[in-house]
Amino acid sequence: DKGGYKHFMAKEIAEQPTVIAEAISSYLPAGSDSVQLPGETIDFASIDRLTMVACGTAYYACLTAKYWFEQLARLPVEVDVASEFRYREPPIPARTLALFVSQSGETADTLAALRYCRDKADKILSVVNVPESSIARESDLALPIHAGVEVGVASTKAFTCQLSVLLMLALKAACDRGMLSPTAMADHAAALRGLPSALNAALDQNDTVRAAAQKLSEARDVLFLGRGLMYPLALEGALKLKEISYIHAEAYASGELKHGPIALIDQQMPVVVLAPRDALFDKTVSNMQEVMARKGKVMLISDADGLSEARDGVWSTIQMPHVHPSLTPILYAIPAQLLAYHTAVAKGTDVDQPRNLAKSVTVE
Ligand code: F6R
Repeated sequence: DKGGYKHFMAKEIAEQPTVIAEAISSYLPAGSDSVQLPGETIDFASIDRLTMVACGTAYYACLTAKYWFEQLARLPVEVDVASEFRYREPPIPARTLALFVSQSGETADTLAALRYCRDKADKILSVVNVPESSIARESDLALPIHAGVEVGVASTKAFTCQLSVLLMLALKAACDRGMLSPTAMADHAAALRGLPSALNAALDQNDTVRAAAQKLSEARDVLFLGRGLMYPLALEGALKLKEISYIHAEAYASGELKHGPIALIDQQMPVVVLAPRDALFDKTVSNMQEVMARKGKVMLISDADGLSEARDGVWSTIQMPHVHPSLTPILYAIPAQLLAYHTAVAKGTDVDQPRNLAKSVTVE
C-alpha cells in the first residue's frame, strides 16, 4: 500500500521522521541519556578495533559511521565492501569487533564475510532491518533499525535508520571508552531527540528539490562533492541518482577534485555540493569556487548560514535546517534522496523497480 503516494520510494522517504524517532527512542529510552542495546551488551572499552563490512548503501552507512567511531570514541575503524573483504581474507587482530550492516540481512557477500569472521573476531555484531534474517541469526548480537518493511528497491529509510543506530552505537562506544562526558552525551541525546523535527523541515523543501531535479534531469553526468561526514553521503547521493534515473553520477571527496575529476568540469556538468556550515565549510567552498571558475553548475545544499555566505554564482540552492554537526549525514540524506526521486520522476523511469536491480542480492 503506497498510502496515497505515487511510489513506495516517496512514501518511504516521507516516513523517515517517524521511523527514526522509533529507532532513537528504542536505543535512547525517554528519561535516560545513555544508549541501551537490546539483549546482551557490548563493552567497547575491551575492544581495540572495529571492522565494518557491507554492500551498496549499507556500505556508505558504514563509511559514515567510521567518522563517528573515530572522532567520538577514538576507536580505529576499518570499512570494506563485503565482496572484497571475503576474498581478501584479511587478518583479524585480537580485540576486534566485527560489524555487518544489511537491510535485508540476506546479502550473500555480507553473509559470507560474517562467516569468515566467525572464529576470528571477538564478537559479531549486525545492524539489520529484518530481525529473522540469516545475518541477524548468525550474529552474537543483532541490532534492529526499526525502519519497517522497505519496498522501494533503492534504499532510503533503511539507510537513515542504519545511520541513526550506528551513531548511537558510536556514542555508546565513546562513553564506554571514557571519551564523552555525561554533559556532552546529554547534548548528543537532546540533539538526536530533536532530529525528527529537523527531518520534517527538510521534507518541507520538497518543492524546491523538485524544481532543482527538473534542471538535473537534463544532465548526462552529475558530480557530487562532500568533505568529512558529507563525503560518504555524496557517494550515496550519486548511487541513488544513478540507480533510479540512470544518469551517470560520481562522487568525490571535495579535496580530491583537483587530483583528476576537475578535468570533467564544463558548462554541461552539474555539481551537487553537500556542505553544512561546519568546520570544513570554507574548504568545500573553495573547491566549489574552482568548479564555478570552470563554468560548472553548482547546486549547493547547505544551511541558512552556509547559503548566505556562499550562494553567489551558484546555479541552484537547497536550504536545510541547522542541526548538531554529528547529525548532518542523516538530515542531508533527505535532499539527496528527493533529488534522485524527482529526477527519476521527471525522466519517467521506474522509480520503485529500477532496471537490472533486485531488492535482496542473495547471489554473489
Ligand atoms: C541501494 C541499495 C543496495 C543495497 C545493497 C545491500 O539503494 O539498495 O545498494 O544497499 O544491495 O543490501 P542489504 O542492505 O540488504 O545488505
